[in-house]
Amino acid sequence: MCGIVGIVGQQPVSERLVDALKRLEYRGYDSAGVATIIDGALHRRRAEGKLVNLEARLKEEPLSATIGIAHTRWATHGAPTERNAHPHFTDGVAVVHNGIIENFAELKDELSESGAEFRTETDTEVVAQLLARFRRDGLGRREAMHAMLKRVRGAYALAILFEDDPSTIMAARNGPPLAIGHGNGEMFLGSDAIALAPFTNEITYLIDGDWAVIGKTGVHIFDMDGNFVTRPRQVSTAAAFIVDKGNHRHFMEKEIYEQPEVISHALSHYINFIDNQVLPVSDDIDFAKVPSLAVSACGTAYLAGLIGKYWFERYARLPVEIDVASEFRYREIPLSPQSAALFISQSGETADTLASLRYCKEQGLKIGAVVNACESTIAREADAVFPILSGPEIGVASTKAFTCQLAVLAALAIRAGKARGTVTDDQEQALVKSLTGMPLIMRQVLNSIKPKIELLSRELSICRDVLYLGRGTSFPLAMEGALKLKEISYIHAEGYAAGELKHGPIALIDENMPVIVIAPNDRFFEKTVSNMQEVAARGGRIILITDEKGAAASKLDTMHTIVLPNVDEVIAPMIFSMPLQLLAYHTAVFMGTDVDQPRNLAKSVTVE
Ligand code: AGP
Repeated sequence: MCGIVGIVGQQPVSERLVDALKRLEYRGYDSAGVATIIDGALHRRRAEGKLVNLEARLKEEPLSATIGIAHTRWATHGAPTERNAHPHFTDGVAVVHNGIIENFAELKDELSESGAEFRTETDTEVVAQLLARFRRDGLGRREAMHAMLKRVRGAYALAILFEDDPSTIMAARNGPPLAIGHGNGEMFLGSDAIALAPFTNEITYLIDGDWAVIGKTGVHIFDMDGNFVTRPRQVSTAAAFIVDKGNHRHFMEKEIYEQPEVISHALSHYINFIDNQVLPVSDDIDFAKVPSLAVSACGTAYLAGLIGKYWFERYARLPVEIDVASEFRYREIPLSPQSAALFISQSGETADTLASLRYCKEQGLKIGAVVNACESTIAREADAVFPILSGPEIGVASTKAFTCQLAVLAALAIRAGKARGTVTDDQEQALVKSLTGMPLIMRQVLNSIKPKIELLSRELSICRDVLYLGRGTSFPLAMEGALKLKEISYIHAEGYAAGELKHGPIALIDENMPVIVIAPNDRFFEKTVSNMQEVAARGGRIILITDEKGAAASKLDTMHTIVLPNVDEVIAPMIFSMPLQLLAYHTAVFMGTDVDQPRNLAKSVTVE
């Protein structure tokens, strides 16, 4: 997703703007640019590709200014070229934008008919052209800003410079987040607090409909009607996290190996380790009274929710209605206002998930948010926030956030079971003991499976298609394993319920398509062994991920068998996700793809 930064102050800004953009690289992008005002004139430098290219441009042609805006672009309208890179200029106006202007085509037609000349294929340019036209019509900067915001529809985070005012940055937010940073004699603007962490930890978040006039000594914020409003100034914790790779080659590798540590943090927020009980979680969602639970999320977060569904239904006997957020609100699910809804999101800014949250809120449901970013929009709009405490996840492929989401969902399901009287004290103690033993087992697994995984990844790296199979909670895990592989190695992969194999996918089986079977020695193991025999009988190559009991019980001739410790069923999804993460990681490393920022992907998808 695009990244926006801005600085207005007394010191040179160009290098600091690019440094701030580097802290937004994890969001994914394909071009970048900076705009400044120097001696009453707008100047810009833009470059395709990575920020090193923009830095080279700035080295060739420096921009020395004390006000500027900058942008990393994740292309939505128009190819990722320098011409389409932000900032966009028109007659004394510079604009950077994150989001989609949904009515840009009609505005472009209207503006073109009145003589505007468009130079790019982007939707963003209509913002600059509208502002320029309103200024030509004699409106002041604030009036032009307000008039433009009345015309555009869609999702936007905007930062704007007017050539005739070198002391002010204008900003507006409707959807994608925007944070204002308070400095000493200078002010900052960014897509999130991580970008501003080197400058300040005093942050004001704009809310949807807000627009702002930012000078070097402060900010004036207005609502959509142009009324002056105030927003809370809070201390951000983003600066507390060291965001670097340590001694790892990629953020993704670092985050995979951080899992034992961060999952301990997550569990400590929900577990009384002395009494082996789940702590009370929230006064806003009374699991004892809700008739059902709606769950909605995207991507890996959705797959965590699918696993959580098994737990809420099994332990709390609570019916769960789950769907991907882009479908959820269009199904018109008959939701009871007495129900609760859980939204799972690492970034807390995913547009589809946020839209589903707002849909459920309109239906009167109590809203819970399982998030990593507790200052995010989804967190702010929820009644109850359930932090996953995994620390900033920079790699686009979600790993530690996934297992922390699972740990939190397991704790919530157990807590819900206690509240509904479907989990006894003894059952709670046994389940909680399994959860508290998880970090040590994760560490053991991470310390033992790498050689086998690297060997297997070499073989996978030459494949075109891979099938993942699982039953029970291993079925959503099979989909997550497939998602990890395809999103960073670009190998086509599918996750399937093992029992569904004979209803179609078995037609795919041949010696060219490895079948990765996730099969802890649980209630489903024997049935899964039958599915593996169906694969073997047709010349399929099986990679079995199982535990010690499973390895002893399985007499199959497999291509590879990865043996994990015997674990309780409730923690199997977290333990078995690690070989899947490492398999995807090492395969992508062999293939030389951009592991942390895979092509076409963004870390936080803030457009629908
Ligand atoms: C997972 O590896 C992907 N990066 C993607 O599917 C991600 O999980 C999804 O976009 C949801 O993001 P969120 O958790 O920030 O809402």
